[in-house]
Order: sequence, then structure tokens, then C-alpha cells
Amino acid sequence: MHIHAYEKLWLAASVLLILLLLGSVTYGAVGPGVAMVSDSEQPVDATALDEDERFSEPRVEQVGENEYAAYVVAFQFGFQPDPIVVPEDSTVTFYVTSRDVIHGFEVVGTNANTMVVPGEVSEITVETDEPTEYGLICNEYCGAGHHVMEGKVNVVS
Ligand code: CUA
Repeated sequence: MHIHAYEKLWLAASVLLILLLLGSVTYGAVGPGVAMVSDSEQPVDATALDEDERFSEPRVEQVGENEYAAYVVAFQFGFQPDPIVVPEDSTVTFYVTSRDVIHGFEVVGTNANTMVVPGEVSEITVETDEPTEYGLICNEYCGAGHHVMEGKVNVVS
């Protein structure tokens, strides 16, 4: 088959486009302000969260002076605990996993936003300031109740 130079150019251009697209997806997954699924986290058995030390009782735990860990489970269609109550002026790391399908974890009006994948633990660290009630939404389509899947993050004094 004979390929015109012109067609080769288009071929090269489309390959370049695909590479750029892949590059942007990869960049988006690790971009600033967005903590996506972290490979360094211990994987977790999504079908046995009840036996997992971190997720059998989703909760907020104090782990240092002004430092907290929030263990959160996303499910069809909600989050546990709900509300997630964290102190003002503190550093909070959210460890989020799913017990069923892929969900999102987005604290409305902030850059705390991650995908939540069954079998993996997503990690996001935020600094809280003054008492506020934030909405928590799922931003990945996860089934019939996706649009009502929500929770609260309450920053309290
Ligand atoms: Cu969970 Cu959409």
C-alpha cells in the first residue's frame, strides 16, 4: 500500500494527539491539589472490610497533636461515617476505600477530591481552619443512586 506523505503527516499527528491525551490523563491523576489513589497505600480486601483494622469501624482518630486520621468507607449510596467530624485548625488525612464499586470523594468547595476504588485506599491530607459544614459528594457514576450519594464533613471547634 502506498501512503501519501500527507497521510503520513495525519498519522503522525494523530499518534501525537493520542500521546498528548495519555500524558494529560497521567498528569491529571497526579496533579497538584488532587491526591488520587496512592500506590504506596496498603491494598485492602473490599469484600472483607469488616475484618480490616482501619475500615471495620469507619471513624476519625487523633494521631498526633492537631493531627487526625479519618477512615472512610464509600458504598452504594453513601459514606461512613456520616457526618465525618474533624476539629478546626488541624491536619486531617482521609483514608478512603469502597466496599462495592468505584466512587468519588469530593469535599464540596475544596480541592479535596479523589477517586475511590474497591481494594485500594485513597489518601488525601487537608488542613482545616474554622468550623464549617462541608458537603461531601460522589463524583463518579456508581449506579442508580449516584445522584443522591452524599455526606457531610463537619469542621468543629
Ligand atoms: Cu458513588 Cu457516584
